[in-house]
Amino acid sequence: MTEQDFIPKAYPKRLNNGNVTWSSPSNIALVKYWGKKEHQIPENPSISFTLNHCKTLTTLSYTKKEHSDSFSFDVFLNGEQKDDFKPKIETFFKRVEDYLPFLKDYHFKIETSNTFPHSSGIASSASGMSALALCLVSIEIELRDVSLSTVEKSFFNKKASFLARLGSGSACRSIEGDLIVWGTHKEIEGSSDLFGVKYPYEVHANFKNYQDTILLVDKGEKQVSSTIGHNLMHHHPFASRRFEQAHENMSKLINIFKNGDVDAFVKIVESEALTLHAMMMTSMPYFILMKPNTLEIINEIWAYRNETNSKVCFTLDAGANVHVLYPENEKDTVIEFIKTNLVAYCQNGHYISDQIGFGAQQLVSEN
Ligand code: DP6
Repeated sequence: MTEQDFIPKAYPKRLNNGNVTWSSPSNIALVKYWGKKEHQIPENPSISFTLNHCKTLTTLSYTKKEHSDSFSFDVFLNGEQKDDFKPKIETFFKRVEDYLPFLKDYHFKIETSNTFPHSSGIASSASGMSALALCLVSIEIELRDVSLSTVEKSFFNKKASFLARLGSGSACRSIEGDLIVWGTHKEIEGSSDLFGVKYPYEVHANFKNYQDTILLVDKGEKQVSSTIGHNLMHHHPFASRRFEQAHENMSKLINIFKNGDVDAFVKIVESEALTLHAMMMTSMPYFILMKPNTLEIINEIWAYRNETNSKVCFTLDAGANVHVLYPENEKDTVIEFIKTNLVAYCQNGHYISDQIGFGAQQLVSEN
């Protein structure tokens, strides 16, 4: 598919007003997306677990306007007007306008809330942008006056992911569950730079219901915006080798997912997390986004793995928080370990227990 496939024909139906609601999850990358080209095209393929509890709930209300000359919208977070969110949404609308030509015909009210605290340091852009994209594609389905057949549903998901990507790259991996690939990889059929797809091959039972406990080490605002971070890969001395490595790691994961080799999985996941941070430490300007407690937690996890047969491991986002990943059959023991050994390193003792989930859901309003 190409970008052209997402440009719609004239809409047969007229809509005056209405609303749609979607709940969309966050995701955690195993092979990281870090580095992008123009138009939100990733430099390398990435793969992520879709989360189950960390979600954004968005209701999009639309009212037909008299003039279609500019974008018109208001944004609310937990019922409070948030004008500081508007520039990011305005940029998103500009990027997707060709694919959603109705955008200037309506005034939109965007009401959003997260299941996790906004200031938790958990990026809400993946769940937030995917929820908004899903709402917009739902409105488009109404305008096109089609029902969701299997073919339409598949196109719906692709278009939602395609649009979400234009809002925030990683958001394109938040439409479906439970393992999503974004970025073309020669061994993964159907993979695309334009949208995320469900991982198409066999996944061993060891990886079902994988657990993710997010340790909130630093709840502050991001030190480096992701856009600046991605841009630092442009003249990075190790960039091209890093992009190749991501391809290699994706190839290795295909066998690992098939055979259920959790030890090999742990190696790739932790190496990817540290590589992401290594890229930041070796860019110009350079950043250290880990905090002392991030390292304390990593060392505790390694010590625990050495002492026990545990398969627990960690991964990181572009920040100090730690995602602790472990198989479902270790749920009770690892939670115990987290409570006794790791919670002390979290800001105010805060952590969020999550697990792999099945993707976004539309909520139907009662009126
Ligand atoms: C470190 O998706 O936030 O979480 O496309 O600029 O919005 P933009 O970037 P974003 O980058 C996330 C990077 C990451 C790794 C990942 O999720 O793959």
